[in-house]
Amino acid sequence: MLWIKAFHIIFMVTWFAGLFYLPRLFVYHSEPGVSAESARRFEVMEKRLFVITTLGALLTVGFGLWLLVGWFWPPPLWLEIKLGLVAGLIAYHILLGCLVKDLRTAPARRSPAFYRVLNEVPTLFLIAIVLLAVLRPAF
Ligand code: HEM
Repeated sequence: MLWIKAFHIIFMVTWFAGLFYLPRLFVYHSEPGVSAESARRFEVMEKRLFVITTLGALLTVGFGLWLLVGWFWPPPLWLEIKLGLVAGLIAYHILLGCLVKDLRTAPARRSPAFYRVLNEVPTLFLIAIVLLAVLRPAF
């Protein structure tokens, strides 16, 4: 069980590395005056990073479900709340995927400031989910 938990955490770090870095790339990509060549490079980086981030997400969820079914079923309330937050995080992940496509067709549609604000969202999820998983509060 501890091995599975260890891999759950390792892939969670991979997932979050992408969730933090993708909107950063979006900030640079959407800045005015980016040349066509740089824009093409950003597109390639964003696409590749999104693939790696998605792999991290799938493996985190896979190992998490293994833990859930194997040792934590039926889930206590803190874990149910955590799963609700994970659903929100997956929605955010999907949004980033849509923005990768959007930046290819219309890079100037949203401002760099929009992506800077977006960049703060995963921090909130990370703090809430890790606090729930580690402290296991009895509500
Ligand atoms: C569908 C997705 C997920 C499922 C089903 C899931 C399920 C679980 C389960 C059953 C455990 C074992 C309970 C425990 O030992 O505390 C666990 C541990 C943990 N999870 Fe997840 N999890 C998911 C996603 C995440 C995400 C996105 C994060 C981070 C943001 C995360 C962070 C952790 C951490 C840090 C632990 C270790 C807690 C400890 O040992 O004190 N999990 N997860």
